[in-house]
Amino acid sequence: YFSERKLQPLKGKKYLITAGPTREAIDPVRYVTNHSSGKMGYALAEQAAEQGAEVTLITGPVSLTPPSKVKVIHVESAADMYDAVFEQYDTSDVVIMTAAVADYKPKFYHAQKMKKQPGENVIEFERTKDILKELGENKTHQILVGFAAETNNVEEYARGKLAKKKADMIVANNVTVAGAGFGTDTNIVTIFNKDGRATDLPKMSKADIAKSILSEVSRMQKE
Ligand code: CTP
Ligand code: CA
Repeated sequence: YFSERKLQPLKGKKYLITAGPTREAIDPVRYVTNHSSGKMGYALAEQAAEQGAEVTLITGPVSLTPPSKVKVIHVESAADMYDAVFEQYDTSDVVIMTAAVADYKPKFYHAQKMKKQPGENVIEFERTKDILKELGENKTHQILVGFAAETNNVEEYARGKLAKKKADMIVANNVTVAGAGFGTDTNIVTIFNKDGRATDLPKMSKADIAKSILSEVSRMQKE
């Protein structure tokens, strides 16, 4: 008799998982961010560790307690996350980019707090680096999983990201659907595989979605 807890299908595998938002500083007291809660990434880290993987969780600022048995690296900006991810990339078997990485950062960081001025103010932004895209371009043996939170044209955008970022899998959801938005404990996702397959999952807890994603990944590792 083997209890479910003792089954360790991911034993010996190194999983690198990113989670949460990034924070792009404007000055010492202000920043730009997004609504990511980190729940999906933390659920993936917890499940992967539970199944025996050696997990490193690179997390932006969130209000969650990291799962035990997971190595946690805290980062703030997209640039910090980029550096932390690439430091671990060579030795990772699977990278799951759950993080909602900022696409833009303020072009200039003001070392002093900006004072308000009469009239309008404009903050210039510049693009951050696309971490997943660069992972795809530098892939040697890793399995790459990305996420896509969309409000419309989910399938078209998800398949586009799969190709453009050379990912092996994109997990897509429509954040405007009830039970699938930011901060929820449930999600409704479709898994798009690089072989063209699409799997619609019903509304499930993020823990169960994590299990489904991990079983798709380990299926890929056996192919
Ligand atoms: N991603 C990344 N680095 C970025 C932006 C996104 O690694 N600078 C990753 C995310 O972690 C996610 C995937 O790319 O796994 C898709 O992110 P998403 O924001 O949906 O795609 P973008 O390519 O940024 O396109 P857009 O925001 O314009 O839809
Ligand atoms: Ca984006």
